[in-house]
Amino acid sequence: GSGYFTYDPGFVSTASCNSEITYIDGQKGVLLHRGYPIEELAQHSNYLELSFLLLNGHLPSPQEYEEFSKTIRYHTMVHEQLVNFFKGFRRDAHPMAVMCGTVGALAAFYHDSLDITAERDRQISAHRLIAKMPTLAAMCHKYCIGQPFVYPRNDLSFAENFLYMMFSTPCEEYLPNPIFAKAMDRIFMLHADHEQNASTSTVRLVGSTGANPFACISAGIAALWGPAHGGANEAVLTMLEEIGDDSEENIQRFVDRAKDKDDPFRLMGFGHRVYRNFDPRAKVMKETCDEVLSELGLGEDPQLKIAKRLEQIALEDEYFVERKLYPNVDFYSGIILRAIGIPTNMFTVIFAMARTIGWVSHWNEMIANGTKIGRPRQLYTGPELRHYPAKQD
Ligand code: SDX
Repeated sequence: GSGYFTYDPGFVSTASCNSEITYIDGQKGVLLHRGYPIEELAQHSNYLELSFLLLNGHLPSPQEYEEFSKTIRYHTMVHEQLVNFFKGFRRDAHPMAVMCGTVGALAAFYHDSLDITAERDRQISAHRLIAKMPTLAAMCHKYCIGQPFVYPRNDLSFAENFLYMMFSTPCEEYLPNPIFAKAMDRIFMLHADHEQNASTSTVRLVGSTGANPFACISAGIAALWGPAHGGANEAVLTMLEEIGDDSEENIQRFVDRAKDKDDPFRLMGFGHRVYRNFDPRAKVMKETCDEVLSELGLGEDPQLKIAKRLEQIALEDEYFVERKLYPNVDFYSGIILRAIGIPTNMFTVIFAMARTIGWVSHWNEMIANGTKIGRPRQLYTGPELRHYPAKQD
């Protein structure tokens, strides 16, 4: 230290926490939700069942699942006054800006009647957030493109209902392609929770002050927006469009740029704060990507070809190998979403929708366990003590 401020060797970050929800082993590429591997959940479960598991700690019985689904369906509509909030935004506002605003505004409609120290009221908050995020997300999209809002339909599954609210219009009957609905549900599952990532840590820090859950989730959305975090899925598509030509020498030129410290270009969708191995979610996402694109006869999509070549290079090129930069969850999700017809500016909104169950589960666990207000410590590296110069009279 600088002498005046001695370094405290016992300094322990107050940022670490205990949780029973998700386990990650970055070296082995392992991701467990309440002990279940993400690969098994992605194959056999669905987003609503996974939401129940993350929130309550066990897989639901058929009765519990039916009750939970009915509760979520009951809360899918938003207060009609919220429609006025949208009207204040420019049509070309980024949907993440609109989500930050409208989700935070839910506090003005639902918070006053809730006591977050009561488990039952926390469950009600969680159900409302899980149910209303898709409705608000679809409203963002409809507002952007100038089409009328579509009310939720309770006879459709969670993923089907989202696609219905996104793409149907009053002019004709719309029923989502089952392959798209299955891919959408799997994308929701793969983004549901991921331990103490930046946005979940944000939600916990805001929640530790006793702030209401709607404000906490709005803060999580803001943190997720950054291109180093949830904004990466949108950035992957922008990168693939920037690369454009799928010829080997053009791809290599961009790979060389990604290695050049003086060049801001980065391979978006590669690297991770924790995984120093393949992100297990990326593997499942890649399989889903192949399924959706072959269903659409887009197996030779040039951007998919570029993506697959980049992944191969990352496994061979020593720059990426020695830094253990593997494709992460965001690498393939954008290609699937684009194939389904989701506009690029909605990609991070979909990540936020899916991550809501992770955010509320961690918030609920933290409040239930009782927590002190978060207060990350710092190592001071500023000037030593000094005094204000005496006035020269
Ligand atoms: C998510 O935390 C979570 O769990 C997040 C998440 C979740 O589910 O919540 O998994 C979701 O956010 C996934 C990550 C999405 N972001 C991106 O795809 C953006 C591109 N990735 C990079 O910005 C970066 O890899 C991070 C931010 C993801 C990780 O940053 P780190 O761990 O701090 O890695 P680093 O910056 O220390 O990089 C180590 C080295 C550096 O080179 P050197 O200084 O050692 O020479 O690798 C290089 C970096 O320059 N590097 C890259 C790179 N990522 C890191 N080089 C080229 N392209 C990249 N993408």
